[in-house]
Amino acid sequence: MTSNLARYPLGAAVTLEELDADPHGPLAALREREPVSWVPVLDGWLVTRRDLCIQVMRDAGTFTVDDPRFSTAQVVGPSMLSLDGETHRRHRDPFAEALRGTELRDRLAQRVAQGARRLVAAFAPSGAAEIRRDLAGPLAVNVVADALDLLDVAPGTVLGWYDEIVAAVDRVSVGGEIGPGARSAVDALASHVSETILQDRGVLAEAAQTLADPEVVSNAAVMMFGGIETSEGMTTSVFWHLLTNPDGMAAVRADRSLGATAIEESLRLEPAAGRVDRYATVDTELAGAAIRKGDLVIVSLTAANRDPATFPDPDRFDLARPNARSHVAFAQGPHACIGSHLARLETQAALDAALDGWPGMHLADGATPPTGVVFRKPKSLPVRWDV
Ligand code: HEM
Repeated sequence: MTSNLARYPLGAAVTLEELDADPHGPLAALREREPVSWVPVLDGWLVTRRDLCIQVMRDAGTFTVDDPRFSTAQVVGPSMLSLDGETHRRHRDPFAEALRGTELRDRLAQRVAQGARRLVAAFAPSGAAEIRRDLAGPLAVNVVADALDLLDVAPGTVLGWYDEIVAAVDRVSVGGEIGPGARSAVDALASHVSETILQDRGVLAEAAQTLADPEVVSNAAVMMFGGIETSEGMTTSVFWHLLTNPDGMAAVRADRSLGATAIEESLRLEPAAGRVDRYATVDTELAGAAIRKGDLVIVSLTAANRDPATFPDPDRFDLARPNARSHVAFAQGPHACIGSHLARLETQAALDAALDGWPGMHLADGATPPTGVVFRKPKSLPVRWDV
């Protein structure tokens, strides 16, 4: 890739530290001058212009997820996240169906709102909480556990499996072993999935009509994988954006319907999953870059969402932005997030519950801005309110 280094000097200068801490400046420079750039620290092409990002995500024939390097599939088996074409649709359809807007409102909306109010009420008398660990994280686990409708499993158990699987995916992605902890987590999940299917319950039983049991298990794992860390980040980040924009917070307190816009603006500025990865199936060209078959092509959702061609004054948190919903935080194309309705419902529930239950909520010492190379969120967001 020596020639790439000469041709893509801006990409060569990008460091993991800046991608983690504050990537927006370097991403803006790339978008303007090298919108498809070879970035050595990522060992792949980084796509930063919104139209090109959408082009890659919509063209699964040229840019696929189906590659042996994809670490999630190594741990949980093939699933909708790691397949393309007809097989992908077969894996995805039953789960996507269960998470459509109307199905969700009937089945889950009330439970999600109650769950958020319960978490907020538990802290109300103390006058202090940490948004990520005390509200956003536990709510995300409860919601995914509810959405899967697993037989007799406490959210804490689901979280335990999730932690083991995530740790194994991290290990495998740097050449390590899956390990016994993750294997037994997948086995435990598999046995609960089988019992739930036997009882003919919910989305898993529905999925078992068109998928083999191991396929239902891997997709159930991917639902956890897709829904826990991302939703935690999405919820925590909207609190960050409102708590650091007093005018925005005042506007939302005065008119709660603005909460939905605040959520979209927050997703735009800090998408909880900052990037999605694809692999080129053929030699191809994208905005002048000569991509070779097998190359990793990284779509920066973080960069796409601040493209000034679509979002004027892109770094500003603006509750009056008419097209805030045109962000690509939930991706596009065949792998577009199937949990987006549920995630919005969940974040809205958390925001409403906290605004009602924690009067005068404000930031406390120790709050940190969103960080992370892939999953971005404030790692700590302590708040206080009037008791
Ligand atoms: C309850 C919450 C959620 C659930 C159950 C969920 C589930 C999923 C699943 C199963 C997929 C794979 C779809 C496929 O490959 O066909 C997916 C994709 C995706 N989700 Fe979600 N998700 C949730 C929340 C979120 C949130 C909060 C975000 C970010 C703000 C997010 C961002 C994405 C993105 C970017 C993809 C595309 C991945 C790719 O193209 O490689 N999701 N989600």
